[in-house]
Amino acid sequence: MSNQAFVANLYHAPEKGSFDYIEQACIEVDDLGMITQVLSPDHPNYATLVEQHENTRSLTRLADHQYLLPGLVDLHTHAPQWPQAGKGLDLPLHDWLNQYTFPLESRYSDLTFAARIYPELVDTLLAHGTTTAMYFATIDSAPSEYLASVCKEKGQRALVGKISMDEKSMCPDYYVESSTQQALSDAEAFIQNVNEIDAKQGLIYPVVTPRFVPTSTKALLEGLSKLVSQYQCHVQTHASESDWARDFTEQTYQKTDVELYNETGLLTRKTVLAHSIFLSESDKETIKTVGAGIAHCPLSNMYFADAAFPLREAIDKDLHVGLGSDLSGGPLPSIFHAALDAVSHSRVREAGTNTHIMEQRGEASTRVSFVEAFWLATHGGGLTLDLPVGVFKPDTTSTHLWLIATPMVAKFVFMMISIASKTSWRKSLCIPPNLRFRQFG
Ligand code: GUN
Ligand code: FE
Repeated sequence: MSNQAFVANLYHAPEKGSFDYIEQACIEVDDLGMITQVLSPDHPNYATLVEQHENTRSLTRLADHQYLLPGLVDLHTHAPQWPQAGKGLDLPLHDWLNQYTFPLESRYSDLTFAARIYPELVDTLLAHGTTTAMYFATIDSAPSEYLASVCKEKGQRALVGKISMDEKSMCPDYYVESSTQQALSDAEAFIQNVNEIDAKQGLIYPVVTPRFVPTSTKALLEGLSKLVSQYQCHVQTHASESDWARDFTEQTYQKTDVELYNETGLLTRKTVLAHSIFLSESDKETIKTVGAGIAHCPLSNMYFADAAFPLREAIDKDLHVGLGSDLSGGPLPSIFHAALDAVSHSRVREAGTNTHIMEQRGEASTRVSFVEAFWLATHGGGLTLDLPVGVFKPDTTSTHLWLIATPMVAKFVFMMISIASKTSWRKSLCIPPNLRFRQFG
């Protein structure tokens, strides 16, 4: 297959806090799915590029009422929890894990059960525009590798982690690694096998995944960090998610989660910390210095966090941050929804809620805008993962390109377009109708 081109009206957010709109942009994509050119109609090469692709019948024109957006990035989601999405949110985190979640996750040791759930979940996320997802799978290697192969088959960019959890006092006996050594050798085999699924073509990545501090021994965290440096892979875990989770680490180690992950070598440029509600100033500095990222999961936070994530401060401090659905702690699979939730969450934080306190009810100047939320859902997510996704940018070095790895992904991205008709898109972003768009490219 040779290069293809698309003429489309497109939106994207190459800079946080603003977005670009190009009417009738011409985007050229090579046969590996990399964007090679994004030209606006006033570019001197525009007419030639369009004509060239018209002649070779490799041009697709989107309808005038359709819009091209970058695929959405879900930085934190639990694939095996899909069957309980929207259920069981009556309990706090510790009880929710033990009563609902561990029993459900343990069922995936049966591959036929996994085969009933994972393809449908991946289809659902793609249908909601999520073209890149960072997944927690389960403790069992075979179904976790199967999830990675489903993503490969369906053309979704996926970072998949087999969960590591070996602290016997905190895990049920039916859902725990047999030993720390076994956990480490299984994690290593998982990395090798997932690397083979994609032959490092940039679509499927293995992720080192200690579930969170309570279910990990220190020896596990230290052993996993050796794998991270050996294989240079991503890391994902939960950090400081609720009062209980934060206190557990402080009482056990007299440290914060961020301090413990950093000291054990798990905090890198390719680490994604889910939640991170209760960060100290020094935690934030550490995260910034290392370049690690945060998956903000606003809907899940409303059930489990006991407080609001300081998103405004994270954005202003230039931390790497994006959005996660956190299925099924968050009951919805949509990153569009997460973007709206992030805005609402910040507005409630700013305004406060207590009807009896009239002054100092909320935290002043902590709102985030819809445009910022769109950036978080796309380019912010890509930056957090250190992957060239979430923005339309040609770059011959390829590091900043938005990648369409297969025609399948391109197809789903284009589905996104039809979600956003001109009026509804303008309304949802609160864009005044007379706004003049900044041109790009
Ligand atoms: N903390 C540890 N495990 C989990 C999980 O599965 N979901 C959420 N939301 N938090 C966790
Ligand atoms: Fe989670």
